[in-house]
Amino acid sequence: MGKVYYISKNVGLGLLVLGVSALATIIALSIAYDKEKAKNQGRPGDGAADSTSMPTPPATLFTPKEPWDRYRLPDSLVPVSYNVTLWPRLEPNADGLYIFTGHSAVVFKCVKETDLIIIHSNKLNLTNFHGHLAKLSGLDEVTAPTIQKSWLVVKTEFLVLQLRSRLAVGATYVLYIEFQGELADDLEGFYRSEYTEDGVKKVVATSQMQATYARKTFPCFDEPAMKAVFSVTIIHKRGTVALSNGLTLPLPPTERMSTYLLAFIVSDFVSIQSNQNNNLLIRIWARKKAIDDRQGDYALNVTGPILQFYERYYNATYPLSKSDQIALPDFNAGAMENWGLVTYRETALLYDPIVSSTGNKERVTTVIAHELAHMWFGNLVTLRWWNDLWLNEGFASYVEYLGADYAEPTWDMKDQIILYDMYKAFAVDALASSHPLSCREEEVNDPAQISEMFNTISYNKSYLNTFAFDNTEYTDLWDHLQKVGIHIPHTVHDIMNRWTLQMGFPVVTIDTRTGSISQKHFLLDPDSVVDRPSQFNYTWFVPIKWMKTGVEQQQYWLLQKTGTIRVTLTTPLFLTLSGQDWVLANTNVSGYFRVNYDLENWSRLLSLLNTNHKALSVINRAQIIDDAFNLARAKIISTTLALTTTKYLSKEKDYIPWESVLRNLNYYILMFDRTEVYGALQAYLKKQIQPLFEHFRTITANWTRVPSGHTDQYNQINAIGIACSMGVRGCRELIRGWYRQWMETPNHNPIHPNLKSTVYCSAIAFGGTEEWDFAWMKFKNTTVASEASRLRAAMACTKTPWLLNRYLEYTLDPTKIRKQDATSTIQYIAQNVVGLPLAWNFIRARWSYIFQQYGKGSFSFSSLISGITKRFSTEFELQELKKFKEDNLHVGFGSATLALEQAIEKTTANIKWVTENKAQVLKWFTEASK
Ligand SMILES: *[C@@H]1O[C@H](CO)[C@@H](O)[C@H](O)[C@H]1NC(C)=O
Ligand SMILES: *[C@@H]1O[C@H](CO)[C@@H](O)[C@H](O)[C@H]1NC(C)=O
Ligand SMILES: *[C@@H]1O[C@H](CO)[C@@H](O)[C@H](O)[C@H]1NC(C)=O
Ligand SMILES: *[C@@H]1O[C@H](CO)[C@@H](O)[C@H](O)[C@H]1NC(C)=O
Ligand SMILES: *[C@@H]1O[C@H](CO)[C@@H](O)[C@H](O)[C@H]1NC(C)=O
Ligand SMILES: *[C@@H]1O[C@H](CO)[C@@H](O)[C@H](O)[C@H]1NC(C)=O
Ligand SMILES: [Zn+2]
Repeated sequence: MGKVYYISKNVGLGLLVLGVSALATIIALSIAYDKEKAKNQGRPGDGAADSTSMPTPPATLFTPKEPWDRYRLPDSLVPVSYNVTLWPRLEPNADGLYIFTGHSAVVFKCVKETDLIIIHSNKLNLTNFHGHLAKLSGLDEVTAPTIQKSWLVVKTEFLVLQLRSRLAVGATYVLYIEFQGELADDLEGFYRSEYTEDGVKKVVATSQMQATYARKTFPCFDEPAMKAVFSVTIIHKRGTVALSNGLTLPLPPTERMSTYLLAFIVSDFVSIQSNQNNNLLIRIWARKKAIDDRQGDYALNVTGPILQFYERYYNATYPLSKSDQIALPDFNAGAMENWGLVTYRETALLYDPIVSSTGNKERVTTVIAHELAHMWFGNLVTLRWWNDLWLNEGFASYVEYLGADYAEPTWDMKDQIILYDMYKAFAVDALASSHPLSCREEEVNDPAQISEMFNTISYNKSYLNTFAFDNTEYTDLWDHLQKVGIHIPHTVHDIMNRWTLQMGFPVVTIDTRTGSISQKHFLLDPDSVVDRPSQFNYTWFVPIKWMKTGVEQQQYWLLQKTGTIRVTLTTPLFLTLSGQDWVLANTNVSGYFRVNYDLENWSRLLSLLNTNHKALSVINRAQIIDDAFNLARAKIISTTLALTTTKYLSKEKDYIPWESVLRNLNYYILMFDRTEVYGALQAYLKKQIQPLFEHFRTITANWTRVPSGHTDQYNQINAIGIACSMGVRGCRELIRGWYRQWMETPNHNPIHPNLKSTVYCSAIAFGGTEEWDFAWMKFKNTTVASEASRLRAAMACTKTPWLLNRYLEYTLDPTKIRKQDATSTIQYIAQNVVGLPLAWNFIRARWSYIFQQYGKGSFSFSSLISGITKRFSTEFELQELKKFKEDNLHVGFGSATLALEQAIEKTTANIKWVTENKAQVLKWFTEASK
């Protein structure tokens, strides 16, 4: 694929082994064995880094005249090592400003003759030495040129030194700089996090360098390929601890590493540790109270096994001398894989056995597994540039399931695998405004474009794409594939190019009456225009696993637009079909595509579901539903056919098919919960969910226990949540009873942790001010992060407008709602049908303020736009959205720019869909609920 990986020489060999073994496993998973396809999880919250909505980088290909006006570093200098000293002040100075000071000496080598030194520096005040912003000297008796002029370029974030003569190729030099920066609460670079413990305000200095914030901490060559070794000194007060990537004292330098993986933290946190892995020091750090409450124990328990698993999986020992993981009160992403010092949101690392739910626990396991996977892939082997980020994230998102499965073998992680990540990728990648996974380096330049690369497509559309290592390895793949007896019709390289160099994915149509099979680019909105040409004409090489009446058939490769599917080499499919025979393709979602059939086969599949749904695996049941709903959205099949796939649900007890239905019906709920259709929908869903609600009542002995199965626990949550909102008798009373009981004995919460989110939300939705105020009081007082985030979401469920408006005001007051939580809280409010218009007015009225405070480079910011506009489905709302865009052009939308475009596109599609479907949907639900 012409991908170049920057591998430092001394580790390259180990990684070659990694490449082959990972590929073998992934190929095996994706093509050979059908059981473990699809990626993952319905767990609440997001995966590893933030769930985001996705933007494409606009291709601004221009070549500025001066080298410092370009965003990329010139290729004349490479860093070798840095000595960095940092001194963060955890108390404000006389001007009320929190600052840090520091100095750095970078040793760099000249590889191309130049009289310019260009190095990144952003928002740092540099000390002036005799009129210049740095001191330059030569190493090994080289004489350094004198500096003629030095200046900062704000736009491209560079410090530039113009020299009087040229640097010599092959010589090394030292650049010494002293600087002072603000320890702001902006969650970028070296920043300040505040929290209160026992009524005392505490300040932590911590860091987030990815993607482009190391340069805001000290001047550096801040690109991923510019690896170097770092010797770090942190000055801090007695009574606090300083942490960085390596062990402290006697201060050995780090391994060769990229600047975006550095981390510096000064806090009064405490840790627990173990040495179970061959004397590797493993520590979990957090606030003292959290550690005292044993909230770090679970993370410590799973880290050792997960590291052991990866050492075996990658066939390479853990590359560093220690593994620190730390839970921070203020953190923008879900977690960040800094080498040897991984930072987490508290909810992603801390688990309280008493108050946390099964979902919380699963999240802790999978996020840890994800971040630790990066310690090798991403950190040891690093992408050359951010355009290949998808590979880094795709790979980690894939292996996190293997690591988590190893740590928690009873959870069936590999069964839950993928459907949900895959669904997310399907959803965004079916839009005309999607983008290919791979783009050229030149298309990703400035920091905003780099931030946009961290999007859902990169995170989720990737299990297939992890094949895409470079050419030296595909012969090994070929060997492996031959060994497992699979015929592949082209090289892996050719096959993969079609999946990574063009956007989207196909819908494959099988006509069982003739055996003909064809593919077409799948677009959710059939009228949208794709203006991005593809060198492959939106045709893929599609490996199709399929079964006939329960019997797995030989895999079929669709290599053209159309083909003919056969049961044996010569027997056409249609000759062998009779009576009740059915065909199901893409078994267990082993491929990244959707499937459509002729109506006869659809009705055979539907009757199979109604009579004997267990003849199909849970993943296939879920897939039939998900494909049908999406094909209906794209007007390839009728809406009523899609709805008919849900008729068998009164018999369905499994989580994955139910989750698939609920996610798809969610679109109907969003489109119709402000219309008369909602009454009929509610009546239908009430009828379908009732047996599931009774089922759980029975197996939990009247709600006195929780089910033992991991996914049954999730499905119980769905059953109660839907039953209550659809008005199943007894549900609201049950929930109100639990919540009342808690209000009467506030120090004893009788609600099982798994059910808390649902119970809090329903109790607040069907309760009044008293229930809300109780939740707020609990929210302010809890010391458990997961409990706080549940309460924060639940308070958005109230149907009382003034409570919602007051809550919206709270989101912009950091003493009430933390800055990191502001955008997601506004989104929670917008999810509530009563809260939507209030939230929309709120952000329109304050866009420029919100943008300044939360806009720049923030992950969750683009999802604010997509969250708020989800229900938009009227011409009036479309006009409002367009006006919002126009009115705020001067303010800008930053990383939400593309989200706004997509919101306009989606609203347009929603309007059309509602117009075309409302009448038949109303009719269908009315009849089906009888
Ligand atoms: C970096 O620090 C080490 C240890 O103090 C010292 O030996 C070395 O000379 C320093 N390098 C530079 C370029 O200042
Ligand atoms: C940097 O310098 C500017 C201008 O003198 C000053 O306003 C700002 O406070 C300084 N920043 C820090 C962190 O010292
Ligand atoms: C951690 O492991 C220990 C020893 O196996 C066990 O007793 C403890 O319950 C575990 N803690 C958690 C939170 O899982
Ligand atoms: C693992 O690495 C060792 C040493 O680097 C090598 O000898 C061995 O063949 C590797 N094993 C596999 C399965 O690649
Ligand atoms: C794509 O389609 C065009 C027009 O139909 C055709 O000329 C071209 O050869 C096709 N390219 C590929 C790679 O199939
Ligand atoms: C559950 O409650 C119902 C009615 O209150 C009762 O008839 C039934 O025996 C109870 N079942 C169990 C398992 O406790
Ligand atoms: Zn990651």
